[in-house]
Amino acid sequence: MSTRYRLFAGVAPGLETLLADELAAIGADVGKPRDGGVEIAGERELLWQVARDSRLVETLRVRVGQPFVAQSFEELTDRVARLALAAFLPRDPPELVTLRIESRKSRLYHERAVAERVIARLRERGLAAEEADAPGPNAPPPRPEHAPPTVWLRIVSDRVQVSVDAGGPALFKRGYRRYVGEAPLRETLAAACLRAADYDGSQPLWDPFCGAATILLEASAIASGLAPGAGRVFAFERWPTHDAQAYAAWRESLPPPQAKAPPPLLVGSDVDRRVLAAARKNTGDLPGGSAPITLVGRDFAAALDTVPRGAAVVTNPPYGHRLSDAGLKQLFQRFGKTLQRRTDLDPVVVLSGNPTFVQASGLRWRQVARTRNRGIGVSLLRLER
Ligand SMILES: C[S@@+](CC[C@H](N)C(=O)[O-])C[C@H]1O[C@@H](n2cnc3c(N)ncnc32)[C@H](O)[C@@H]1O
Repeated sequence: MSTRYRLFAGVAPGLETLLADELAAIGADVGKPRDGGVEIAGERELLWQVARDSRLVETLRVRVGQPFVAQSFEELTDRVARLALAAFLPRDPPELVTLRIESRKSRLYHERAVAERVIARLRERGLAAEEADAPGPNAPPPRPEHAPPTVWLRIVSDRVQVSVDAGGPALFKRGYRRYVGEAPLRETLAAACLRAADYDGSQPLWDPFCGAATILLEASAIASGLAPGAGRVFAFERWPTHDAQAYAAWRESLPPPQAKAPPPLLVGSDVDRRVLAAARKNTGDLPGGSAPITLVGRDFAAALDTVPRGAAVVTNPPYGHRLSDAGLKQLFQRFGKTLQRRTDLDPVVVLSGNPTFVQASGLRWRQVARTRNRGIGVSLLRLER
């Protein structure tokens, strides 16, 4: 008999609806998108599938028990002690558990005090819990796939929901080595840009301001049918309730990666030679069977004759740290004119970190989402042709 899980798939705030669409396409029964993520419910195979196939998800947690009301430390620790946490926390050897508390608009507002009480109670149950950011004295340095399991207590208006990490840390990483330029995108944000363009890997694609080629690498993986989590070890694999045999059989049963044939032409351009060198290293390291990427070390307009007709454009233009305001405005104007001339380039999606972009481009854009990249507010825009 398989267990039914309630899961919370987390994403950068602002990208919840894009994540909900992606999870529905993977086959999840998706709840209403809310602050920083989406609730889904399903059997263990759904957890396995989402962990393996979602390109947008950044954290994956399993809910432990139903939410409950707690207004005192006693109420809280009594309820936590009764939860079926043991199903999700490795006991042998006893592991360190990282505890994260988030409290809003609640009587139990003092996160540190909450953590201390819960840690003491978990210790009574033989769990060596530690607060997040306080590495234990005997804890070995965590390797990504063997980081201590994380337990979250989210308290909002006195209602508490306890969750345990199911994915593992840094789900945005794809497992290949990344050389980065200035302001590189997380892979999950690159995936969100491609999703906003409905990119399925069959169309040629141009990133005119490609930087370290994050968007192109993600497009190549999509075109090659490579699942982002195919080679990853997930936190759920260490749960005592995890059925390793069933998981291995499930993985065996999956169809082999289906690459698009012929592979689409993927083109990137960038004026910065150092950044392009990083892009060359990244794209030279592609896993076998990936759709190849062509890089052009020129101004985007000079690269235009290498861009195939009918290509999609997905890009993240400069934010303006290095160029003057006038220089940036001129760049956006030139880009707008290029898109006006090449009406065959469609769809066009831009992740813009500069508020002058829309006006300077002289074109009409629809805002698909608004989120943050490295602390900077960015808009995900799709050109209205
Ligand atoms: C925000 S970064 C792109 C980051 C990229 N998405 C990544 O993940 O690394 C913008 C890039 O535009 C490049 N750039 C600036 N002016 C350009 C121009 N006229 N033509 C082509 N690229 C340009 C910069 O060198 C920079 O690498």
